[in-house]
Amino acid sequence: MTESRDWYKQAVFYQIWVRSFADGNGDGIGDLYGVYDKLEYVRSLGANAIWFNPLYPSPNADYGYDISDYCDIHPDYGDLDQFKKVLDKAHSLGMKVVMDLVVNHTSDEHPWFLESRKGRDNPYSDYYIWRDVPNNWKSLFEGDAWEYDSLRGQYYLHLFAKKQPDLNMDNPKVREEVKKILRFWLDLGIDGFREDVINFISKREGLPNGISFLPILGDMIHYKDGPHIHEYMKEFREVCDEYGAVQIGEGPMTTVGNALTYLSGEKKSLDMMFSFDHMTADCLYTEYMHRPFRLVKLKRALSKWQKRLGDRAWNTLYLENHDHPRVISRYGSEHYHRESGTALATAYLFLKGTPFIYQGQEIGMTNIRLSSIDRYVDVSSKNNYEKYHLKDDLKSRLRRIHISSRDSARTPMQWDDTRYAGFSEAKPWFYVNRNYKRINVKLQEEDKDSILNFYRKCIRIRQKSRTLVFGAYREYLPADPNVYVYERELNNIHYLIVVSFAPVKIPMPVPGALKGIPVQRVLTNYPALHKEGETLHLPFDFLHLQPYEAAMFRYRKAASASYDSVDKDSASGRVK
Ligand code: NOJ
Repeated sequence: MTESRDWYKQAVFYQIWVRSFADGNGDGIGDLYGVYDKLEYVRSLGANAIWFNPLYPSPNADYGYDISDYCDIHPDYGDLDQFKKVLDKAHSLGMKVVMDLVVNHTSDEHPWFLESRKGRDNPYSDYYIWRDVPNNWKSLFEGDAWEYDSLRGQYYLHLFAKKQPDLNMDNPKVREEVKKILRFWLDLGIDGFREDVINFISKREGLPNGISFLPILGDMIHYKDGPHIHEYMKEFREVCDEYGAVQIGEGPMTTVGNALTYLSGEKKSLDMMFSFDHMTADCLYTEYMHRPFRLVKLKRALSKWQKRLGDRAWNTLYLENHDHPRVISRYGSEHYHRESGTALATAYLFLKGTPFIYQGQEIGMTNIRLSSIDRYVDVSSKNNYEKYHLKDDLKSRLRRIHISSRDSARTPMQWDDTRYAGFSEAKPWFYVNRNYKRINVKLQEEDKDSILNFYRKCIRIRQKSRTLVFGAYREYLPADPNVYVYERELNNIHYLIVVSFAPVKIPMPVPGALKGIPVQRVLTNYPALHKEGETLHLPFDFLHLQPYEAAMFRYRKAASASYDSVDKDSASGRVK
């Protein structure tokens, strides 16, 4: 195994959902020409890696996660030549590139499926999971997990939408196809993969019924972390090892214990995993079942992963991606837009792991509220609307979609205050959020205290510090419902991160061990009130915090310590 891929530990990723990022050829759809022109912007954030959501040809039933050709670029986005230009430019700017690998399922328009449908004895007939009699599993997106195909005269399994038939990973030929895809992109020069629902690819033999009173969750026991998962992952790892490629798994519903089996020990097959525990602080296990946001729930999830992964494995850190509504609208406050946007950044960017920033998060984009369900385009939002809470009135059903839809993450990027927010000169493929005149990159570039410039500052601080990258994690005040307080420490260099999630002023009790010690304030999101660089003594009783105030303090444990050695806490900040 090569060590060269360890670059990911010091990286900060920027995630690009290309369709809504920047339109370079004027057809209203984001593309790789637009991306090419914005790479300097991405680099200017301090990002040194990019994750692209699927760029491949796709009928877009699930916006790219239904792939009809794994080794090409969707014509809406450009072609392989343009991809190569983007890749080379990203590399020359010092950024790695990671592609999405979606092999739990294909599109039903993929040639393999078109062949497989034709009968039971062609070379592709066992590429998918066919049954005469379906079991009781439910799909995550569209009703039953089985769809009857009249051409073949059998049902096929689809854990997601009907247009996303599941591949039969037990078939060695399918695994060979996956390895070919890996090699295709690695030979082009990419640096790794984000692997979609990778913990679902091995299904239990015989496909037994799920627990009937627990739809979806009760089925998962038969396909989450299935019986052959580690054998299959090992095969894929071997290919990635040859290239030193990074592997980041997406693990819906994964527990820390399960994740560790992929991330550490003999079976290690992934470098990092996207977990979901911390994305359920305002909902149950799916997004349409909303509850008021509870900070304690968020803290518990974050601390659990920080502590249990510890030195054994590496975390991913994220608050947004293309599958979740905007985080200011969820865990923060649209009213305290700048304050809560910067507070949320502070809360997660200094944890142990690799931060991922989703396009638009760095300027605090918020949820869109469309006037009717027909205007939404995401298959899961439409399905949730049709299937759940049918007894509620239409207004509250639509409100649930406003709160939960993935479409909120997929509105065009707000670059400036010109028509269509500078995303395109033509009418965009999807609605621009009406607040683009107030929330956009151009305005925030000009404001040194904007959310955008705050992200830049946090990333700079993080990348210069070995403590913030590699140091140990410790939480204070875990039961406090208003503030998140944690510490990072390495070689007696400490950082204390304090973040209020309250929309009012609050007193924060100073934890015993920290009372009265001299600290240096290295970050504040209230620059009119506090000075970065100032030295102060933490009070003996309470620190009084403004609404959504965030701060970071640096200190050593011995009271007489000078800050000289603190300055030696440096990391290169460049990924090699
Ligand atoms: C997870 C992806 O992030 C999501 O966008 C997609 O809908 C499902 N996997 C199915 O591929």
